[in-house]
Amino acid sequence: MAAYIVEDTKKITTQRIMQMKKDGKKIAMLTSYDYTMAQIVDQAGMDIVLVGDSASNIMAGNLTTLPITIDEMIYHARCVARGVKRAMVICDMPFGSYQISREDGIRNAVRMMAESGADGLKLEGGEEFIDTIRGIVNAGIPVMGHLGLTPQSVYKFGGYSVRAKDDAEADKLLNDAKLLEQAGCFSLVLEKIPAELTKKVCQMVSIPVIGIGAGIADGQVLVAHDMLGMNDSFKPKFLRRYADLHAIMNDAIGQYITDVKDGSFPNETESY
Ligand code: KIV
Repeated sequence: MAAYIVEDTKKITTQRIMQMKKDGKKIAMLTSYDYTMAQIVDQAGMDIVLVGDSASNIMAGNLTTLPITIDEMIYHARCVARGVKRAMVICDMPFGSYQISREDGIRNAVRMMAESGADGLKLEGGEEFIDTIRGIVNAGIPVMGHLGLTPQSVYKFGGYSVRAKDDAEADKLLNDAKLLEQAGCFSLVLEKIPAELTKKVCQMVSIPVIGIGAGIADGQVLVAHDMLGMNDSFKPKFLRRYADLHAIMNDAIGQYITDVKDGSFPNETESY
């Protein structure tokens, strides 16, 4: 597999991300929740590192993204921000941090920006949170929208199936995308929607659209642990696996146990 050659070492900003769409350059985004992974992802040449609330599932073992707290998201984002030099770091606003009121949402966004070291925030939803999103942008915070399958609403949807397959939901998504652009979002994630609808959104809005399970867009995002194959049972159609780390780690750890048990580790060169 070929390494990606990074063209420059200059910090990625919202302006550069928006310019990439104008220049027809694709945007690569990947999750990280800790310092070591963030360093590897950044050094590989990633444009955006997402401190997703998927940390709730991947790091904490929760069934959904709902239980993760603001304090926990700030902790993960601080770890990531310390490991990243070039990429833009975006942190998810967790469930409950912006749903209650506009004022509460702005207050939590300001706190998350001040304490996390992130370069911007992402939050789920469209028209229903548009005043809050406008307020956060007006506070000087770059906001990435998120439409389609919005995992914080999993109990409303009744699962993680493809969204916006019918005309009514597709029309609402198109309207929401327009509203997010007008509210000042610098980019937008579309999750698990039909590829044709993603194409329409990409043509309709001037801000970059980053897809996950949404077909071709201005950029793509995946969860690092999924694309690295760390969970051998998660195999949705949209996921391309670039490694089988589950098998590699299992072999390495198994070998270590064997070496300890049979006394071959440590040997003389590994001893003082
Ligand atoms: O939390 C997350 O990892 C995300 C991506 C799946 C887009 O929101």
